[in-house]
Amino acid sequence: AQLTIVGRDGTEKTVEGKNGWSVMENIRDAGFDDLLALCGGCCSCATCHVHVDADWTDQLPKMSGDEDDLLDSSSHRDASSRLSCQIEFGPALDGLRVTIAPED
Ligand code: FES
Repeated sequence: AQLTIVGRDGTEKTVEGKNGWSVMENIRDAGFDDLLALCGGCCSCATCHVHVDADWTDQLPKMSGDEDDLLDSSSHRDASSRLSCQIEFGPALDGLRVTIAPED
């Protein structure tokens, strides 16, 4: 399944996403080091913040209370915000497009 990533500098890249990996892991694997993911996917750092394209926000698994709380710590949060480590990539997400959020 395809995953499109837009980096902080506007670079856009479409990759064949690895199923069963988180979106965060797929973004890192695609070479986007600007997504820091400092906690390694433990839902405790919020440095994997992405904005999901509008037509996808309702199709993703619902966020947990922890994800919701962590996102509140970002000044760039909006309705399209998600922590990419909390979204497992797979065939159902074919065509997903995410933009790495600005640094807080
Ligand atoms: Fe730390 Fe996602 S990598 S919250």
